[in-house]
Amino acid sequence: MASDARMTAHGATLTSTSTRHDPWLDQYAERTRGLSSSAVRALFAVASRPEVVSLAGGMPFVSALPMDAIAETTARLIRERGHVALQYGSGQGDPALREQILEVLAPVGVESHPDDIIVTAGSQMALDLVVRVFCDPGDVVLVEAPTYITALSVFSSYQCEVVHVPMDELGLNPDALREAIARVRAEGKKLKLVYSIPSFQNPGGVTQTPERRQEILDIVSTNGVLLLEDDPYGLLSFDGSVPRAIRADDSQAVIYLGTFSKTIAAGLRVGWAVAPHGVREKLVLANETAMLCPSNLTQMMITDYLATSPWLDQVKVFRELYRERRDALIDSLENHMPPGTSWTVPTGGFYSWVDLPPGVDSTAMLPRAVAARVAYVPGTGFFADGQGRHSLRLSYCYPEPDRIAEGVRRLADVVHAELDMLDLFGPAIEASQKTAAIAPASDMA
Ligand SMILES: Cc1ncc(COP(=O)(O)O)c(C=O)c1O
Repeated sequence: MASDARMTAHGATLTSTSTRHDPWLDQYAERTRGLSSSAVRALFAVASRPEVVSLAGGMPFVSALPMDAIAETTARLIRERGHVALQYGSGQGDPALREQILEVLAPVGVESHPDDIIVTAGSQMALDLVVRVFCDPGDVVLVEAPTYITALSVFSSYQCEVVHVPMDELGLNPDALREAIARVRAEGKKLKLVYSIPSFQNPGGVTQTPERRQEILDIVSTNGVLLLEDDPYGLLSFDGSVPRAIRADDSQAVIYLGTFSKTIAAGLRVGWAVAPHGVREKLVLANETAMLCPSNLTQMMITDYLATSPWLDQVKVFRELYRERRDALIDSLENHMPPGTSWTVPTGGFYSWVDLPPGVDSTAMLPRAVAARVAYVPGTGFFADGQGRHSLRLSYCYPEPDRIAEGVRRLADVVHAELDMLDLFGPAIEASQKTAAIAPASDMA
């Protein structure tokens, strides 16, 4: 392919030898370094083909929504209030929606004021704004081990240092948290945030008990560290007992992130942060810088939906649907996975975390799994430091139960084959325990 030389605005000569070469490669900001593509990501393009059972993506099953009612609402909104719905709005979010968010927060015990709520384009954006207003390059963020992939991308894009804190079957381990805080401070580093997903954690599927939450809150309050509580799945508890948010017991030490993505529709991109008063002002300014204002149309769709439909009944429909899928996953894991495999049994949410038998490497195994027409997310994606090689995350939210069962059967065959290879050839030499974090695709979230 012909070579192509051009000048940038600053006079640098850019040479590209193919259309695939990026002539801007040496121009990117330092903060984009962690945002690399990966072979794993490329595999997910294949994994989205219909013959592959994807247990990888965290996509809500939106087909269960009352589509006709939503279509009618939207048409009516535009017909009758199009001059508002299609106009710019408030940088903090529509006051009517902020009022209603208070009702949505009632089941998790958070009492607030509409003034302390900021509406964002999904809770992902709220997460980005919080990190933007608090973290300078080199600041430390403590996160669960493992944690949400795209939170890691946010921390990386603001050049934070991520330190993982071990979890146990009740979530974030308090002793480990105390130790991590002391260690980071002894090293003279600036600790800015503890990021935690206390309910039906992504990817671990575990939930902190009330006692554990209180202990975590005591630790952050005593140490003067801000807790960033991310709670997208709290209402999706399979027995209907919604866990009380940590923010419910402290409005100063905790920023709470919520979303309509899992209870209404991810595609509307409406989430929110509830923040201490001073923080709220900074977040509103950051929100305006990022997008001027959240979409009036999608906020009004949600306002209308909350006001006119039995939305909690719809949440119940989702809960039952996901519980059935969780059961399909766990039954199939029990029936098919080889000894030495273990997994978490989530009591809500979308995910189970699987530890593979010793020696089986989930990243190395992925191409063989995709060839066998099943996909998962390898454990390394959920760590900033290369841990997780022998684990993986399975999502049960999207495929129907019989597809989940088929997917687990295929996965179990692949794991059995890996064990046969290990028997024959011994464990592969792990070139490096350090693997680049997987660049997330939105359907892997
Ligand atoms: C833990 C966690 N936080 C935040 C998000 C982002 O959700 P959204 O931006 O759709 O509100 C997700 C999505 O999967 C998630 O799992």
